Amino acid sequence: MTLVCDLLIQADTILTQDPDRTVIERGGIAITGDTITDIGTWDSIRPRYHAAKTLDLGRSLVMPGLVNAHTHAAMTLLRGVADDLPLMEWLTKHIFPVEQHLTSEIVELGALLACAEMTRFGTTAFCDMYLLEDATYRAVDRAGLRALGGEGIFMFPSPAYPDTNRGFEIVRELHEKWKAHPRIRQSVMPHAIYTTTPEILTRCRDIAEELTLPLHIHLAETASETRQCLETHGKRPLQYIHELGLLTPQTTLAHCVDLTDDEIALIAETGAVVAHNPESNMKLASGIADVPGMLRHGVRVSLGTDGAASNNALNMFTEMTSCALLHKVHGMDPTSAPAQVVLDMATLGGAGALHLNSVGALMPGMQADIIALDLDAPNLLPLHNPVSHAVYAATGAEVCMTMVAGEVLYNDGAYQKIDYPALVDEVRSLRDWVRSHLA
Ligand code: NI
Repeated sequence: MTLVCDLLIQADTILTQDPDRTVIERGGIAITGDTITDIGTWDSIRPRYHAAKTLDLGRSLVMPGLVNAHTHAAMTLLRGVADDLPLMEWLTKHIFPVEQHLTSEIVELGALLACAEMTRFGTTAFCDMYLLEDATYRAVDRAGLRALGGEGIFMFPSPAYPDTNRGFEIVRELHEKWKAHPRIRQSVMPHAIYTTTPEILTRCRDIAEELTLPLHIHLAETASETRQCLETHGKRPLQYIHELGLLTPQTTLAHCVDLTDDEIALIAETGAVVAHNPESNMKLASGIADVPGMLRHGVRVSLGTDGAASNNALNMFTEMTSCALLHKVHGMDPTSAPAQVVLDMATLGGAGALHLNSVGALMPGMQADIIALDLDAPNLLPLHNPVSHAVYAATGAEVCMTMVAGEVLYNDGAYQKIDYPALVDEVRSLRDWVRSHLA
């Protein structure tokens, strides 16, 4: 019997990230609508299906799109404005002053640039915390990517709201506006413990519970955050948010650099997810998150780039390389953070951080969020181990095709949804605006 599907993909090698971590040589994928309906060898798939379209990806490595578990997309516009500074000085003297002047149009443009970068370098889904988040959702909608986002909640006014009460109204409005969107989901996002109060954090928890939304917060990013939390609240950051009821399986904690062993065990016990950001932590010299310890305790760990102002790329391939290398040299142990574990963090772990169970692996029933890398690229020859290549050899520049929900967003150097030349012109013309607001 011949089955019908919308699209058949043919490729040299498929890295599925299924529970057996199956790698298929000369593989095929059948897609109907936004969903993978079948996957196997081309010889087994091809005769079974009548497809409306076939996409022959030739000598390429097909794998799940990478998931960026923590970023601030529109900060692409601030890439390179201030480097080589500690977190608090960088944030309060250089980033916040420009961000005060942001408008919805500017955020949308920065987020669209971020979407273009992620699409080009093989990221298909991301978790975004920013200001005027509605504008980021509009960019995600236009670009075709998938995102979990949230309006950053602060105890002081933001460009999106004059007071925090209005901030909470915006969370509700965004939820109403976007809840039916197939690729955009809302999360409640208190910025950090040092930019909120216990009352604000409790309200965030209550709204997340009421609307059945996940919660995302920067936590334990630096030792100075811990010192400040001890001074202000008499507790360390993790204990502080735990006592406020914020640690649940629906919570994602960005950074988690300054934690004790007991705190890591507590995260494992509560089921919260950690978003690890090695390059941002290295660049701001925030410290090194104990990812091997987290994995030993069974913590769900994902990988993120953080914003482009503290990275300075939104590239999950180079982030994977940095992650694997950082933990080896830190522990003086070359077996630490092995390639498969790091790839898991960037795919299945990311799905956990976005609280999505239909992305992160290529299997029947999963969303067709798929990327392809050109295996004729000199740095990917010869192919002995696709997991090794994905983590240690690829730079993301080899990505030749990016698909989200069954829709091709980028193929053979061309964006299918974003008008890239127009975007380039708009971003270039914004450089003077950014400069005019720098301290
Ligand atoms: Ni961040």
